[in-house]
Amino acid sequence: MAEVIIVTSADDAGSLVADEIVSLVAAKPNAVLGLATGSTPLPVYRALASRRDEMDLSGVSGFALDEYVGLPASHPESYRSVITREVVEPLGLDPERVHVPNGALDTIEHAGADYEEAIIAAGGIDLQILGIGTDGHIGFNEPGSSFASRTRVKTLTKQTRRDNARFFASEDEVPMHCITQGLGTIQRARHLVLLAFGAGKARAVAGAVEGPISATLPGSALQLHERATVIVDEAAAADL
Ligand code: GLP
Repeated sequence: MAEVIIVTSADDAGSLVADEIVSLVAAKPNAVLGLATGSTPLPVYRALASRRDEMDLSGVSGFALDEYVGLPASHPESYRSVITREVVEPLGLDPERVHVPNGALDTIEHAGADYEEAIIAAGGIDLQILGIGTDGHIGFNEPGSSFASRTRVKTLTKQTRRDNARFFASEDEVPMHCITQGLGTIQRARHLVLLAFGAGKARAVAGAVEGPISATLPGSALQLHERATVIVDEAAAADL
């Protein structure tokens, strides 16, 4: 059962998670953070950036959850670019220590296995930040994803491409495929912190926290984790 914390604003959620990360890094200077993209984790990154002077982040590593396949890493909406812009630069992380799955087509066959190896070599993820899609996806593990899955290529659903079209000129420009940590990969992180804000996430949050544990709502895998924290605003908590 996940611990649920209801906050009054996304900024409050950001401060809470930043507190947790500041303590983690103080206790473990080579901590490994699991980084999420999307709009939800931005308050966390902002709160952390404002506390940059309190931490020595030089030994901290990061692993992003996912990436589009076939979108050049240099594209402003590739998750490599997003993580660089929103996390690496504002926090002053060592770019060599921040990993994003490689969505390049020429190496895609072994990109999943390579990523799994890199996570293991870093000692595993200490704290994984998660958002949730309106259909309950975490990372890009769409409904139907295996709970045992590892980093691999998946096809994006129509709904997710529609949701993410706001980052592109049109829905047609949203890539069809992605490479994402699997639900099994995410489950191995030592602490999961899922954030969700706004009424549009209420159904997904209720399913993740209280719904049946089912591949039809990938976020429900959180209920199987021994240390999962769900931080939501009142609108996202409305169906709990
Ligand atoms: C994308 C990402 C997910 C993210 C989700 C929700 O699909 N791959 O990791 O959780 O969007 O995005 P947002 O936080 O913008 O609502």
